[in-house]
Amino acid sequence: MTPEHPTTAGPHDLALDPPPGCPAHGRGPGGLTRLYGPGAEDLSELYEQLREQHGPVAPVLLHEDVPMWVVLGHAENLHMVRTSSQFTRDSRVWTPLREGMIKPDHPLMPHIAWQPICSHAEGDEHKRLRGAVTSAMTTIDDRSVRRYIYRATQVLVNRFCEAGRAELVGQFAEHLPMAVMCQLLGMPDEYNDRMVAAARDALKGSETALASHEYVVGALSRLTTRRRAEPADDFTSHLIAHPAGLTDDEVREHLRLVLFAAYEATVNLLSNALRMVLTDPRFLARLNGGEMTVPEAVEQSLWDEPPFSTILGYFATQDTELGGQRIRKGDGLLFAPAPGNVDPRVRPDLAAHMRGNRSHLAFGGGPHECPGQDIGRAIADVGVDALLTRLSDVQLACDEDELRWTTSIASRHLVALPVHFEPKPQQDVTLRPSHASVPPQRAPRPSLPDPQPTAPAPAPEPVAIVQPPRRPNAWRRFLAWWRGY
Ligand code: HEM
Repeated sequence: MTPEHPTTAGPHDLALDPPPGCPAHGRGPGGLTRLYGPGAEDLSELYEQLREQHGPVAPVLLHEDVPMWVVLGHAENLHMVRTSSQFTRDSRVWTPLREGMIKPDHPLMPHIAWQPICSHAEGDEHKRLRGAVTSAMTTIDDRSVRRYIYRATQVLVNRFCEAGRAELVGQFAEHLPMAVMCQLLGMPDEYNDRMVAAARDALKGSETALASHEYVVGALSRLTTRRRAEPADDFTSHLIAHPAGLTDDEVREHLRLVLFAAYEATVNLLSNALRMVLTDPRFLARLNGGEMTVPEAVEQSLWDEPPFSTILGYFATQDTELGGQRIRKGDGLLFAPAPGNVDPRVRPDLAAHMRGNRSHLAFGGGPHECPGQDIGRAIADVGVDALLTRLSDVQLACDEDELRWTTSIASRHLVALPVHFEPKPQQDVTLRPSHASVPPQRAPRPSLPDPQPTAPAPAPEPVAIVQPPRRPNAWRRFLAWWRGY
């Protein structure tokens, strides 16, 4: 008989819990591994121990010892997200929630609580809501977006280029996705330092998170009202106009979903990709050989450090089996791109370069697969490309082992990426990128306007696009090749 989740199998004797300080600390009821608290600082290590002990699906405990399965296998993760007859994203069927085991103030409640949005819906309702979102996304012109990302990058780099040093997470990676998303949604004027700080704070779950969250949602509510009255050519207007007939609440909630999903994930992707191209010997070696493209670096980062380590969650709609474990109807499962992407059955050699292979789990799969992945990739590809082209001599300003991350079950976030470079002049952001963008894939539409600098600064003197200084090093050889990509 296959094993079932030990905590759902019978009553728990608290006297069996290990005392603090004991090597078994980090274990909870039934000797199960906790994915939180002492002993769970290094989740990657923990996932490997769980894989060794239980195979591709392991029983674990979330905060307050709520039972969960974590899906560690690549194939098992894919099977789960693709089999909506057995696994749903609708948390209302989850046994611990139904039995009142999870209190309203549970720290994971924002991820768990059911909401009327496409990521929690299934079947026809999912088709209706997601159809409106994906349809509004298809109206976005790839070439205009890439051009806008390029220009927004120049605006951001203008803010620190003369200093000769920068902190690329706080000054770049946390800004670019917000600038792009505010533009795409149709509220470019809302993009400023305050909006970035509010989104960052809301996602951190700090004491001011609620107020920050309300600040962002306030802007989205105003946008919904404005566009309902006066449609324009943007994502929000297309979402409102879709035949699915979304109510104002549904529109606002989907704008919130899109903004936060896009923001958190793309900040992580940008930070990780930048760190990789600045530090990883695999890439530096390949760059020397002139074989590595930025999109390949981004894809490698999606394998090695998926922006969402896990997604909470999927829930069994019937008794079933997954990865040799017996899953009971109502059990919860963590979709887990981080351990799934390093499953030894698909990646026996983790040092091997994946060469643009896109079969990682970073964007999920099945009916809920991320509909914004092209935009996320474009922000990372163009943003990293444009920044490295502009700061051609950029280098990490600390030892690699001094870099720090904050880790939660949901994601791993690089805290800071300090760099230095020779000071550079400001660049006129009205100039077009020097390399060709991707060809348009649909009828040409008017270009997006130029991004506005967010800090009041003296108007920079327009300068011609500055060619990077001649540097007889790997960067120079790499850049020469790179501009042709
Ligand atoms: C690099 C960045 C991104 C990553 C790694 C990422 C990853 C994901 C993942 C893992 C899911 C859940 C899949 C599942 O439930 O099985 C998801 C869902 C979603 N993402 Fe993304 N995402 C990114 C960027 C974006 C962007 C830029 C947008 C919008 C422009 C977006 C919009 C959404 C939406 C609306 C959903 C819910 C889809 C549904 O449930 O049907 N994402 N994303």
